[in-house]
Amino acid sequence: MASKLFRRKPLHVLLEELHGENRLRRILGPVTLTSLGVGAIIGTGIFVLTGVTAHDKAGPALILSFVVAGITCLFAAFCYAEFASMVPVAGSAYTYAYATLGELFAWIIGWDLILEYAVASATVAHGWSHYFQDFISIFKLYIPKVIGWAPFKLDTATGKISASGSWIDLPAIVITAIVTVILVRGIRGTARFNAAMVILKLIIVVFVIVVGAFYVNPKNWTPFAPYGMAGISFFGKTIFGKSMGGVPVGMLAGAAISFFAYIGFDSISTHAEEAKRPHKDVPIAIISSLVICTVLYILVAAVLTGMVPYDQIDKNAPISQAFKQVGLGWAQFLVALGALAGITSVLVVMMLSMPRVLLAIARDGLLPPKFFGAVHEKFRTPWKSTILVGFFVAVLSALLPLELLAELVNIGTLFAFVVVCGAVLIMRKTHPEAERPFRVPLFPVIPILGVVFCLVLMFSLPPENWLRLFVWLFIGLIVYFFYGRKHSIMEKMKGTEEAKDTSAAK
Ligand code: ALA
Repeated sequence: MASKLFRRKPLHVLLEELHGENRLRRILGPVTLTSLGVGAIIGTGIFVLTGVTAHDKAGPALILSFVVAGITCLFAAFCYAEFASMVPVAGSAYTYAYATLGELFAWIIGWDLILEYAVASATVAHGWSHYFQDFISIFKLYIPKVIGWAPFKLDTATGKISASGSWIDLPAIVITAIVTVILVRGIRGTARFNAAMVILKLIIVVFVIVVGAFYVNPKNWTPFAPYGMAGISFFGKTIFGKSMGGVPVGMLAGAAISFFAYIGFDSISTHAEEAKRPHKDVPIAIISSLVICTVLYILVAAVLTGMVPYDQIDKNAPISQAFKQVGLGWAQFLVALGALAGITSVLVVMMLSMPRVLLAIARDGLLPPKFFGAVHEKFRTPWKSTILVGFFVAVLSALLPLELLAELVNIGTLFAFVVVCGAVLIMRKTHPEAERPFRVPLFPVIPILGVVFCLVLMFSLPPENWLRLFVWLFIGLIVYFFYGRKHSIMEKMKGTEEAKDTSAAK
């Protein structure tokens, strides 16, 4: 029994699979991959969540929150890059865990990635709706509140959930439906569309930094850290810094929320199977997209908190509103437009990544392969799961508050990063000889720091997120024990070297 749960997928099997049937097409080069990364990264996190974070959690210390969250991601990015260069298949952290920690852990992490991508997509669709409504308000057009907002809202200062007076967020549903149709039609068109969106949003982000810099009043940076520099709680008990209503606040608490803005670089590894030279280009794309975004974010945070006193920053569309607040109405138009394009591209990449994780899991038999493994004959896309994902994302984004979704994504993703950093440490021990075209520098310091930083940020999130994560993982375990364990293809591979490995280890 135990050997089944911890059976590992041998590295050579993973590599052989690369040549099998039902593979995705190898059409992505380093620039397209980096652009997919930037496409997935810059979105709701910087354009929307900076408002709540500066206002309720960190003040101008948001600048440092972005530094800490960026460093945390960089540690994890190195580990993703090492794995992606070793095993360039579609499953990302899920596949890495299968090769190192065994099937049960792989399933847990796969299930966790489903949470990350689905809920991140819903959060992003929500952010899109905020900016869409901000954008059309410039033309004095308004969507009735009952269909412009989720029915619940989360007070980030106290952690309380209450009724918002609305019914559903219709713009979020509409954008999700549009993206779903685009994705079913195929990645080649998607990559081109994505590249155009990425260029537009980069121009707007640079515009925000350069033009905004002229409107910075350094007095707005004091007090620099009105909520303090910390914010860590251990299951509800504050152990470092302050908390408000049981919710940690301060620079670190701000980093735990700002972390959302960086999510997406990991999705590059889900495209490893579509990369022309996965061993080289995937690590390059992961690290370069993350570095580009870190620099931009720190500058945007500095400009935003310098333009508007932190307690007057708008919580829904903070960046475009900041330009309105300093009297640049025309810039509000440009920024809102760029944010819309930017957020759309994030949604595209997030919703593109998720069916690929599902595909990898289904190929291993842990989810029904007929449904999740189905690749469309003409478009060569995992179309059935794309439509299912679209449905799921639309429902979540229509009904749940943005901040709640973002916190949930963060804890799930941080958990995935802990596993990937840990898996690099294990893999170096168990497979020292395996070919690693990219190696984490300063081994083992970086993976260890990656684990530590991610755990710190997990404890800087409002504590109820742990409960939400455990509930999700518990549901996942039920699915595994009733389906995956019995249908795993590893069941049919008894007698492989790896099976011998695990029984020897017992
Ligand atoms: N990093 C992505 C965003 O901020 C998820 O929208």
